[in-house]
Amino acid sequence: MIDPAPSAAALEVARLAKSFDGEAILRDVSFSLGRGELLVLRGESGTGKSVLLKCITRLIEPDAGMVCIFGTDAATLDAVEVRRRVLLVGQVPTLYEGTVRQNLEYPFSFKSNQHLPLPDGPSLLSMVGLSADLLDRPAAPLSVGQQQRLCIARALGLDPGILLFDEPTAALDPAAKVVVEETILRLNRESGRSILMVTHDVEQVRRMGARTLVLARGMVKETEGDAG
Ligand SMILES: Nc1ncnc2c1ncn2[C@@H]1O[C@H](COP(=O)(O)OP(=O)(O)OP(=O)(O)O)[C@@H](O)[C@H]1O
Ligand SMILES: [Mg+2]
Repeated sequence: MIDPAPSAAALEVARLAKSFDGEAILRDVSFSLGRGELLVLRGESGTGKSVLLKCITRLIEPDAGMVCIFGTDAATLDAVEVRRRVLLVGQVPTLYEGTVRQNLEYPFSFKSNQHLPLPDGPSLLSMVGLSADLLDRPAAPLSVGQQQRLCIARALGLDPGILLFDEPTAALDPAAKVVVEETILRLNRESGRSILMVTHDVEQVRRMGARTLVLARGMVKETEGDAG
């Protein structure tokens, strides 16, 4: 496909606003995620980090502002198309009954994705450091860390340009947390994926060593890339 705007950022968020019941959660949020960049967003609990990610993926309609995906105004795309280009991986692994392979193929059963070729299971698993031997095993007995990596592999099957992670390690023990962090870093460094990762873990912010934004009082500000 011809890239309509080769110089555009992966994601450009401009003056985004969202209120619930008269309470402004996002007031004026603007930032950009460069192509191939890993960007970290932190903020206290309840400041609107998840709301922001949901506005970007159109799970919530913002009240005002604009989101551009590789130079295209997301408002001109349908929501399904937005969610194919920008994939959101949440805090808790969400798997379906069945095998690892069935989980990887699940998004391809959606009507809007049925025309797409089925993903290559072994290569998706290797991207997240899981063995291909798991493919025909049930997903349910996997450890939570393995389940979260399977969720990331499933997201990668649709080859999204942008990955959003909403506190992807919050449900994990310290060892599994580090493995998932390394998986995210590798996806960025080795496959050049554009990634926005939300966390409120300041130690994790340090370990990721990426440009960092802080969301507070409905606005984002840049920090020094450490916990400051
Ligand atoms: N659909 C909704 N309807 C009404 N209020 C909502 C809705 N979604 C979120 N909120 C409110 O918006 C605020 C921000 O919520 P959000 O989940 O984005 O916080 P967060 O920064 O992700 O917090 P945490 O770090 O705990 O995940 C909260 O006060 C929440 O109650
Ligand atoms: Mg949240």
